[in-house]
Amino acid sequence: MPNIGNKQQRVDGPLKVSGQATYTADIASPFYHAYVLQSSIACGSILELDTSAAEAFTGVKAIFTHKNLPERLKNMVDYTDPLSPPGTPFRPFYNDKILYNGQPIALVVAETFEQARYASRLIKVTYEQKEFKGSLEENLKNASADRAPEPASNRGDFEKAFKNSDVSITQEYRQSRNYHNPMEPHATSVVYKNDGSIVIYDKIQGVASSLKYLNGVFGLAAEKVQVKSDFVGGAFGSGLRPQYQLFMATLAALELKHNVQMVMTRAQMFSFGYRPEVIHTMKLGCSKDGTLQALSHHTVGETSTFEDFNETIVDWSGLLYKCENVNLEYKLTPVQSYTPLDMRAPGGVSGVYALECAIDDLAHKAGIDPLEFRRKNYVDYDQNEDKPFTSKELRACYDRCEELFGWKNRKDKTTNESHLRTGFGMATGSWEALQQKASVSLTMDATGKFTLKCATADIGTGTYTVMSQIAADKLGVPLDHIDFKLGDTAFPDSPIEGGSWTVSSVGSAVAGVCKKFQYRIADVWKRKHPDYQDVAFEDITFKEGNLEYDSKSFSFTEIMQQASKEELSISHNETPAEGQDTHSGYAHCCVMVEISIDKELGVINVPRITNVSAAGKIINPKTAENQLLGAMVWGLGMALREEGMVDTRYGRVMNANFAEYHIAVNADVHDIHTEFVEEKDDKVNPLGAKGVGELGIVGLASAISNAIFDATGKRLTKLPMLLDELIEK
Ligand code: MOS
Repeated sequence: MPNIGNKQQRVDGPLKVSGQATYTADIASPFYHAYVLQSSIACGSILELDTSAAEAFTGVKAIFTHKNLPERLKNMVDYTDPLSPPGTPFRPFYNDKILYNGQPIALVVAETFEQARYASRLIKVTYEQKEFKGSLEENLKNASADRAPEPASNRGDFEKAFKNSDVSITQEYRQSRNYHNPMEPHATSVVYKNDGSIVIYDKIQGVASSLKYLNGVFGLAAEKVQVKSDFVGGAFGSGLRPQYQLFMATLAALELKHNVQMVMTRAQMFSFGYRPEVIHTMKLGCSKDGTLQALSHHTVGETSTFEDFNETIVDWSGLLYKCENVNLEYKLTPVQSYTPLDMRAPGGVSGVYALECAIDDLAHKAGIDPLEFRRKNYVDYDQNEDKPFTSKELRACYDRCEELFGWKNRKDKTTNESHLRTGFGMATGSWEALQQKASVSLTMDATGKFTLKCATADIGTGTYTVMSQIAADKLGVPLDHIDFKLGDTAFPDSPIEGGSWTVSSVGSAVAGVCKKFQYRIADVWKRKHPDYQDVAFEDITFKEGNLEYDSKSFSFTEIMQQASKEELSISHNETPAEGQDTHSGYAHCCVMVEISIDKELGVINVPRITNVSAAGKIINPKTAENQLLGAMVWGLGMALREEGMVDTRYGRVMNANFAEYHIAVNADVHDIHTEFVEEKDDKVNPLGAKGVGELGIVGLASAISNAIFDATGKRLTKLPMLLDELIEK
């Protein structure tokens, strides 16, 4: 039975549920513990920093500040990481300047975490404060397109087409700042060895990122340092760039020549990246029959004063529907905060939110069912890039979702007699299907067991499991003969686990190394059996750890023995498929929701969500479904709960905790159904698989917004959508 396509349970599941999976903060070693003191102002400089009382406190080993940063960390030092946006990355303790509220200004290292934390409160800081404006709104006049990458080219004549449209809408949409909030907080455990080499366990979505940073900042070459990350308790983009705890724990370990661990508190998890607040202005026009004539999407997003974080936001509006007259604009505005950071479906989730609300609004004004409107404006080539798609089965998603959800007869069952109003909404979602280069090594031992290695990560997505499935099938061996190892800079290179590209990138590399193995074992076999010298590779089959030819079977281990080989090792570098250049690759979905709203209290509930996705070959329908479910739960949060609130007078996040920053919890989540339609793709990558990690969150907030309109006749145009806006005033 093939493994690919199976609902295989997680191979690392038993380790996780029995508590044996070691996360970064679980590493057991005699550590010193580090705790940072953070700036209480957002802009200005430190005048005085008195650490004497803290230094004298029990257990304190050292305190690091801008006053004692080793000189070698100042000159010609490169603080960038592979995902640094344009600008100057934040450099901890570099000088006395304060760039944002929450900036680490002192690191206390002590025997215990509690001692370090307490001692940090004994540090006395005097600041010189500078005036600043803390909100996106107040800084809008500084919005600049020069700071942002250019969006897809404008096409046609938007102004003229918009003016001539029979039906049009102009609407602003706003999204609050969101924080990632993975279950596992950021942590780094540095194990300092006697020979001066170090092993660093880091919470990161790709150990190569940490290594690049450590090399640039501390001059630690790969021979001196090994970065490991066996398990990651969720990341969602928060671990794409090394965060300040990596710098802190490494600095302290190198200076003190001792093991050091730093684990962020939940509150500190609000002291770095976030999904930026954005403001969209949408103008859409169509003809009476619902043909989209004109579309303009302008977005302004926040960034920090020192880096120009950008996302691909407005391009989605030029991509998802057929439209000849398109005008796109993207600007950035610096605010006095830390730099934003990619968060699940960065850019897509924002751009598509505004687009899908606007499309719904336009369809309604044109008097056309929103699903029909989308079908009418369907497009089967990429108008931004003028390229065909590798595949696009979105139409099949619409059809299947319509049927599953009962879209046509959705209103039949609803009565407005109870205290609830019911509403229905839908949206389209999409995400890129990219492939990056990746390398994998493979070793078969004398017992026929395979070990595959790659520096990639498993951020909870199921990398261990799906890579094992791919390897088992592509080698022709049982699943339990595969041991897939990851998260170690000693392993072959991998892209960071992000962008939903791990299956397509690492999975294709796994398939590649397995194919090489089959060629190699066939060669060895032929050498030992001269009769088979001329057998074509295509006529050989590989099954259950055997090479089969002409109804004869030879086990891999037997072939190895005959060749007197103890083990067989192969490595492989896979580069992106040609289709990645010649075609545009995207996964798509259709999402439909039912909501109910309490007439008096305005409470919004989402009893039913149906998502049908097209994402190429699904390697593991179980882990893939998990990804979509998780993304949709977050979509619920984004739509109805999550709001990072900044007191703009101080630039401080006011709700840096789970009591006041509301995420979707069990009580918010009801019936969520997901399915995949068949989508054959022979261009996107050798597996024909598209990523699903991000897809599910795209579109959901708009579907909920559209359903709220359906129920109440009100368009709520700011996320999160809160009940106070629905209470009859
Ligand atoms: Mo994703 S935001 O690329 O982890």
